[in-house]
Amino acid sequence: MDLLEAMRTTFSCREFTDDPVTDDQLHRILDAARFAPSGGNRQGGHVVVVRDRDTRQALGEMCGPTLRLYAAQAAAGETPFSSVHPSAVDVEEAFATPVDLFPLFDHLGDVPVVLVVSVDLAEVASMDVDLDRVGLVTGASIYPLVWNLLLAARSEGLAGVVTTAVVPAEDGVRALLGLPETHAIAALVPLGVPVRRLTKLTRRPVEDFVTVDRFDGEPLRPGSDG
Ligand SMILES: Cc1cc2nc3c(=O)[nH]c(=O)nc-3n(C[C@H](O)[C@H](O)[C@H](O)COP(=O)(O)O)c2cc1C
Repeated sequence: MDLLEAMRTTFSCREFTDDPVTDDQLHRILDAARFAPSGGNRQGGHVVVVRDRDTRQALGEMCGPTLRLYAAQAAAGETPFSSVHPSAVDVEEAFATPVDLFPLFDHLGDVPVVLVVSVDLAEVASMDVDLDRVGLVTGASIYPLVWNLLLAARSEGLAGVVTTAVVPAEDGVRALLGLPETHAIAALVPLGVPVRRLTKLTRRPVEDFVTVDRFDGEPLRPGSDG
């Protein structure tokens, strides 16, 4: 598949057929994905391929409280889990309120395979570590690998979705999967054959988020350089 076409149409897949994902497929996918960049090329990532159904189901259940809080904050008009604006939502009440928006996580055991991608923080140059805001740079040493594997999955007829809802339950995941103390979870990626393929993604146009010379500069338009 053409690279630009793949970039424009790789959607978030949350419904899968029962078709299996083989180790050969996963190996080919990860063999392409491993060419992702990381800071200083330190390559601190690790991928756990969760083949065990009960483990997948347990991982899905660990996402529950976070997904319920996410739904409550979104319903209250907030940006969920904002590091800038504190939430006014009652956490305990949200945890106790069931939502059926996220069937994928309730049935994660049924998904053909789940990848848990972590990064060894001892290997990452987190250049924003001393700034007075949430860290961003650390993730840049692992999310290119995550996105690369989803792009590579396209070439195998597979699809998946980047999810982070399990991250607040990192201690439980550490115990479940035996993650070393210095590893932080970047994403949980369910993978399989998609039930349907979306080709039209909703994204902001370039002119909405790209400006020239300054943040408040003119929007970048084709041919505007004279
Ligand atoms: C950092 C990140 C975290 C995400 N976390 C979740 C998640 O926890 N659960 C989920 O269902 N989707 C999650 N997503 C998927 C987004 O909802 C999805 O990329 C977005 O809605 C665009 O969907 P589309 O590509 O199908 O248009 C996440 C995506 C990113 C990039």
